[in-house]
Amino acid sequence: MVVAQEARAAAIGRNIMRQGGNAVDAAVATGFALAVTLPRAGNIGGGGFMLVHLAKQGKTIAIDYRETAPANTRPDVFLDATGNFMREKSQRSGLGVGVPGTVAGLALAHRKYGSGKFTLAQLLAPAIRLAQEGLRVDADLADSLEWSTRRFRKYPASRAIFMRDATSALREGDMLVQKDLARSLQRIAAQGVKGFYTGETAMGIVAAVQGTGGTMTLADLASYEAKERTPVRGTYRGHTVVSMPPPSSGGVHIVQMLNMLEHFPLAQMGHNSAASIHVLAAAMKRAYADRSKYLGDPDFVAVPVKALTSKAYAAQLQRQISMDRAIPAKDIKPGNPLPFESDQTTHYSTVDAQGNAVSNTYTLNFTYGLGMVAAGTGILLNNELDDFAAKPNAPNAYGLLGGKANAPGPRKRPLSSMSPLMVFDEKGALEIVTGTPGGSRIITTVLQIVLNIVDHGMNAAEATIAPRVHHQWYPDTLNIERGISPDTQKLLKAKGYEIRQRRAMGAAQTIVRRHRWLYGASDTRRAGGAAVGY
Ligand code: GLY
Repeated sequence: MVVAQEARAAAIGRNIMRQGGNAVDAAVATGFALAVTLPRAGNIGGGGFMLVHLAKQGKTIAIDYRETAPANTRPDVFLDATGNFMREKSQRSGLGVGVPGTVAGLALAHRKYGSGKFTLAQLLAPAIRLAQEGLRVDADLADSLEWSTRRFRKYPASRAIFMRDATSALREGDMLVQKDLARSLQRIAAQGVKGFYTGETAMGIVAAVQGTGGTMTLADLASYEAKERTPVRGTYRGHTVVSMPPPSSGGVHIVQMLNMLEHFPLAQMGHNSAASIHVLAAAMKRAYADRSKYLGDPDFVAVPVKALTSKAYAAQLQRQISMDRAIPAKDIKPGNPLPFESDQTTHYSTVDAQGNAVSNTYTLNFTYGLGMVAAGTGILLNNELDDFAAKPNAPNAYGLLGGKANAPGPRKRPLSSMSPLMVFDEKGALEIVTGTPGGSRIITTVLQIVLNIVDHGMNAAEATIAPRVHHQWYPDTLNIERGISPDTQKLLKAKGYEIRQRRAMGAAQTIVRRHRWLYGASDTRRAGGAAVGY
């Protein structure tokens, strides 16, 4: 089964498994296909994280293909002469573009964990065909293109691909043809990672980045490496939870929150009751406070993963939770052992007949990243370096705070919230594969998918549809989706919460495995996704 935010790409992965490929082959093919069919988040110009579970070996691997800062990046790169954070530098200039990791990550997964039955070129072929022949723009794609028109207009190469004319984006029913992207993908098919990180593609990326104020060089691209890391592990009510370690903050804080929440009888308290939302919010606030201080790229800073994910630390934190009132964010400090990021990351999950699985989240950061296609390559550039903390306590695009641990630096990876996750039963059998887009809300969305299944006994679809809540310490606001009753909101307000109703948070793509049956749910908060199996 493949569950993804775009149905054509999901079907491509499913077909690979039908032809004898494993979950990793399917994930690689889906990853390249999404770069064509879901250009706002699917990508080869960005980066992300992949968990691979190998059923036979009982082993789960974490692949970090997060973007890196160019080698000449200084800590004050996004500040002006007087030390003020200049958001246009990190969000709207070449300085915000990280060295893309996706091609290296997908190629590594294929080389080490694929079935060996497919070459990289075979897994790329469906994406190349779709880019070359074009695909019909559906309503969802048309909406997102229209939303980004202002940015496409600034860049001739983006305009040529995504717009009908100088003023309007492609509309529903038009064909999106991406011939330059097809050629870039063909170079990967012919030469492997070298076909991306050196030569024509690399030169196109560097020219585009430097042309818009960035400093990325050919050497930055040539030296990029995807890395295998040890996944973060925790337990929750007898289940084992495995997720992404730093430079993502997702795994650490999901395990930390689960450790706190294990002290509360959530099932008895009731799903989305005022009492359970209150303890969720209290756990979220404490986790995001710690995120702001301790999390960063583990190759540069010592992240206290063991302490943050320990049961003892969570026991100490949960004792500070008052059942009567919301403790204001100002009274919660990072313990002693984030604004809203883009909605436009994307996640997909795959599971094959042998029980191998992939949980993959990747992104360009903003929708369509910088909005800029590197001329001649068809590749949209990311603006991922905005995920660094440009200056302590200066919120990034989505309100997240950070400190020195996540300061910009040469070859450093910015902190992420992406949280691909898997859950296993007490015998080690795979139970859940999940993940979501949603910026800082990724962590709390994935948390609630796990709670909905484990505590509240929901199936994959119920767990996905259920209204979600989110708190990230600062801003000190409890965000809720539609569907939390006014009575519940009243009780929460009485505890001191400032409540803000937001549009949909996240778009989870989940597979649940029960008695060897697979149940998939693609979040209906976004149109166009699918759970496809055979
Ligand atoms: N750019 C979103 C994230 O990595 O968390």
